[in-house]
Amino acid sequence: MATLAVVTSGGDSPGMNAAIRAFCRSALYEGHTVYAIRNGYDGLLNEELSQLSPRDLGMIINIGGTFLGTSRSTRFMTEESQRAAASVLAKFKVDCLCVIGGDGSFRGALSLSSFFKGQIIGIPGTIDNDIPGTDYTIGYDTAVATAVWAIDKIRDTAYSHGRIFIIEVMGRKSGQIAISVALGSGAEELIVPEHPYDLTSIAHRLLEGERRGKRFSIIVVAEGVTGGSETISKILLDEHKLETRVAILGHIQRGGTPTAYERSMATRMGMEAYKFFTQKLDQVFCSYSNGILQPVSLESAVNNVRIIDPEILGSLRQLGN
Ligand code: F6P
Repeated sequence: MATLAVVTSGGDSPGMNAAIRAFCRSALYEGHTVYAIRNGYDGLLNEELSQLSPRDLGMIINIGGTFLGTSRSTRFMTEESQRAAASVLAKFKVDCLCVIGGDGSFRGALSLSSFFKGQIIGIPGTIDNDIPGTDYTIGYDTAVATAVWAIDKIRDTAYSHGRIFIIEVMGRKSGQIAISVALGSGAEELIVPEHPYDLTSIAHRLLEGERRGKRFSIIVVAEGVTGGSETISKILLDEHKLETRVAILGHIQRGGTPTAYERSMATRMGMEAYKFFTQKLDQVFCSYSNGILQPVSLESAVNNVRIIDPEILGSLRQLGN
């Protein structure tokens, strides 16, 4: 029998608990020992490990966040800490570490693999959906649903007052959330960090829309765009005489009850990640691509960038005509 451990790292995301439950219960069912590592890589360094039983994993599938706790560990970035973390895993006789997190967490996992003798298996968990090699990461569906829900409320007041709203969604480096939110909320404009934007053209299109009788407009902006939403609002006012209101949705997008899709995908990914352990795979994560769950190397996830199809920006504007 083997010893497995699970850690959540980086920004939390709804559905992480479902993935933890599926991975750990699969291992426990087959008689293995499973440790929970609390509070991310910081917790690993602090030896915050405790043994899990199936009963510890009840009543969590429907809860957002991660019951293990998480951290954005700066301490873990040094080689010395990675060696120390590997020693902790060796002390607890861990044969396989499951890391649930985003690209930063996967980078940390790869660095750890230079010193840790066991298997390392990743599950993509981030609302950003920005990990190359997978079409989906745990938390994305719920985050998009939350943002669209919020915009539906803002739309009521935007319509009543005949206003332009700039809605900022999460995504420091990635416009993936912004794209789905813009499509799902019928936004007129979308600004993402991956593509340059031209406020003069945007202002022109908004004014044109007004002339065609549009009463209000929604501009969805990803958090990481150059300038930020407040600056965009100021430029639209100062240079184009367009008054806007800014709504920054923020961390509301990271919490809340995971959607049914999220829970079922996270559960499938957790079970599949356990299967990778039984297949003795190492330094891979569970990707979902073209409808199939499959192992993809952690290396490729951290050395590539997920790209956005620029056509989508044009199509969206056509629909907002
Ligand atoms: O976890 C991803 C994310 O939510 C990004 O979309 C966002 O830029 C960042 O985390 C915010 O991180 P923090 O909660 O540490 O400020």
